[in-house]
Amino acid sequence: MSTAISPTAYNYKVVRQFAIMTVVWGILGMGLGVFIASQLVWPELNFGLPWTTFGRLRPLHTNLVIFAFGGCALFATSYYVVQRTCQTRLISDSLAAFTFWGWQAVIVGAIITLPLGYTTTKEYAELEWPLAILLAIVWVSYGLVFFGTITKRNTKHIYVGNWFYGAFIVVTAMLHIVNHASLPVSFFKSYSAYAGATDAMIQWWYGHNAVGFFLTTGFLGMMYYFVPKQAERPIYSYRLSIVHFWALITLYIWAGPHHLHYTALPDWAQSLGMAMSIILLAPSWGGMINGMMTLSGAWHKLRTDPILRFLVVSLAFYGMSTFEGPMMAIKTVNSLSHYTDWTIGHVHAGALGWVAMISIGAIYHMIPKLFGRAQMHSIGLINTHFWLATIGTVLYIASMWVNGITQGLMWRAINDDGTLTYSFVEALQASHPGFIVRALGGAFFASGMLFMAYNVWRTVRASNPAEAKAAEQIAVVGAH
Ligand code: HEM
Ligand code: HEM
Repeated sequence: MSTAISPTAYNYKVVRQFAIMTVVWGILGMGLGVFIASQLVWPELNFGLPWTTFGRLRPLHTNLVIFAFGGCALFATSYYVVQRTCQTRLISDSLAAFTFWGWQAVIVGAIITLPLGYTTTKEYAELEWPLAILLAIVWVSYGLVFFGTITKRNTKHIYVGNWFYGAFIVVTAMLHIVNHASLPVSFFKSYSAYAGATDAMIQWWYGHNAVGFFLTTGFLGMMYYFVPKQAERPIYSYRLSIVHFWALITLYIWAGPHHLHYTALPDWAQSLGMAMSIILLAPSWGGMINGMMTLSGAWHKLRTDPILRFLVVSLAFYGMSTFEGPMMAIKTVNSLSHYTDWTIGHVHAGALGWVAMISIGAIYHMIPKLFGRAQMHSIGLINTHFWLATIGTVLYIASMWVNGITQGLMWRAINDDGTLTYSFVEALQASHPGFIVRALGGAFFASGMLFMAYNVWRTVRASNPAEAKAAEQIAVVGAH
């Protein structure tokens, strides 16, 4: 950061960097998603090499879309929102820059180590201990920048969006550090500090809350800022947003055992996870309704504003996946859905429909403001992107529902003499058309990201340094 920068200006440099990298990692992560989806259609695409097998590229996909794409979107928007709602500059430019470069280093580490086969084997926590330690250091620095900025705010109130971002930062640190407790035996190999059912429980306490806090709470912070801003309406009910916050964070943390139904986990823990998951429907829908109702009196804007459409459709998918999740948490339903593509469909209803769509809407909202432009280069291209993303998501999740239910029913079908009606391979053959449709849906979604990259590039290129600098000035209180 140049020393000439006024302390009364926002630090947009780090926001711009994270925003651009959101698009870059989005293309790579989703492109890899299309590739692994294609491997399930054409197994020859594994190329007979260890580094390019589905088993090694799948965790790279999840790391790239969750931590690289989703993570960069969360860093970019949280740094933007905290500065604007607190009317102050980030507390430290150098620490913020460290979080940017440190985070990119973790991602590059994942791109190198995962295809080489280095993994802890814990889902969503695959990175081996040196990278996990770097990630923890970056995350603690992130917390210092975020909360430090809040302490030097020029506003009396802490806007609710920051509460959601704050909870996401604190809980992610806690989950990551506890779940990664392990004994390193070499530079690239460690063993978990926990064993057996305890290890599984800790892992899914982590895994589920990675969904609850990383893929949900952080993005709700985004929702509470960008939906009202784009709709140019205040949030429907501020009181509801506070109830939403406390109910959501109190309940989410208990729901992890629904990933371990019918396992060695004690039965009472499974039932507790199931009960908490069902109750979780209430705050989830409370939040969704709060976001949706913010559009009261502004619905007509959806006709002309594709950015608002991204934000609203993301809320619709959030509502859908948070209805589906509690249903899948019911043990009898889970006995059908578990291990099948239904879970994969649920994941992507949340991941594409909610996480990606709200991030895309927020980035489109921010880019012109970060670079001092009135609007994005092309609204028409945003509209094209919107339809590619929506059609892609629907193709993805519909095909996975059909596959999931087909697989579940075929696996449990039994003949009169007690033998299985279908072999595993027969269920796999029945899934093939669904795999093709999923790959097609993914290709729709990923190609939309290419339109986004072009649109962002044209908008950034049209901006001159003076315009970008003017955009950094802190406006008068109340004008955020
Ligand atoms: C009230 C909210 C939700 C509940 C109760 C819930 C519940 C569930 C259940 C029961 C499963 C299946 C577990 C299994 O059979 O293995 C599951 C899987 C999953 N859900 Fe949700 N879900 C919710 C919302 C979401 C959202 C919004 C997202 C994404 C943004 C999401 C992402 C995932 C992921 C990634 C998995 C797969 C985990 C794995 O096995 O690797 N969920 N969820
Ligand atoms: C173009 C878009 C995408 C495509 C084509 C795609 C494709 C895939 C495929 C083929 C799998 C493996 C499924 C299996 O094992 O049967 C997968 C897993 C997964 N993807 Fe994606 N994906 C895309 C975008 C995303 C995004 C944006 C996110 C998150 C923000 C995401 C999160 C995940 C997760 C969490 C899993 C693991 C699910 C589980 O273990 O239950 N994906 N994806």
